[in-house]
Amino acid sequence: MRLREFRLDDYDAVMALWQNAGPGIGISRSDGKEEIRKKLLRDPDLFLLAEEEGRIIGSVIGGFDGRRGIIYHLAVEDSYRRQGIGKRLMDEVERRLAAKGCLRCYLLVKKDAPEVIEFYDRLGWEILDLDVLAKNIA
Ligand SMILES: CC(C)(COP(=O)(O)OP(=O)(O)OC[C@H]1O[C@@H](n2cnc3c(N)ncnc32)[C@H](O)[C@@H]1OP(=O)(O)O)[C@@H](O)C(=O)NCCC(=O)NCCS
Repeated sequence: MRLREFRLDDYDAVMALWQNAGPGIGISRSDGKEEIRKKLLRDPDLFLLAEEEGRIIGSVIGGFDGRRGIIYHLAVEDSYRRQGIGKRLMDEVERRLAAKGCLRCYLLVKKDAPEVIEFYDRLGWEILDLDVLAKNIA
C-alpha cells in the first residue's frame, strides 16, 4: 500500500469509494468533478489517496486557509479497515498541514458514530463543545 496525491483521473474511483463508505461520508455538490477541480487549485498536495496494486482503497482531503486546517472525506474501503490505513492517511495529511504552518485543525463527524469518534480519539483529536453552523452562499 502506498500513499499518493489525488489526480483528476482518479475521480470516478474516489467517488465510488466515498459512495460505498457508509453514512459517515456525506456526498454533496462540493464533490462534483468541477468543484473537485476547483479544490485542486488550492492545496493539491493535501488531497491524498491510499493505493494498493493500482486500486484506490482510501482517501483524505485536507485544506489550509492560513489559520486553521480542515479535514474532509477520510474513508478506507471496508475490506481494508483496521489495518492502520486510516491512521496513515491522517498522519500524512497532518504532517503536510503542519509543514505549511498550520497549528490546529478541525473536522466534522456525523452524530451517533461512536466508532468514528473512537478512531479520532486514538489519534489525539478532541470533541469541542460547539455548534457547527453553515450557510450556502452560492
Ligand atoms: C474511520 C475509518 C477511516 C478508519 O479507518 P481504518 O483504516 O479502519 O483505521 P485504522 O486501522 O488506521 O485505525 C486506527 C485505530 O483507530 C481505532 N479504530 C479504527 N476503527 C475503529 C472502530 N470501528 N471502532 C473502534 N476503534 C476503531 C483502532 O484503535 C485502530 O487501531 P487498532 O485497530 O490497531 O487498535 C474507516 O472506518 C472508515 O472509512 N469509515 C467510514 C467512513 C467514515 O465514517 N469516515 C469518517 C468521516 S469523519
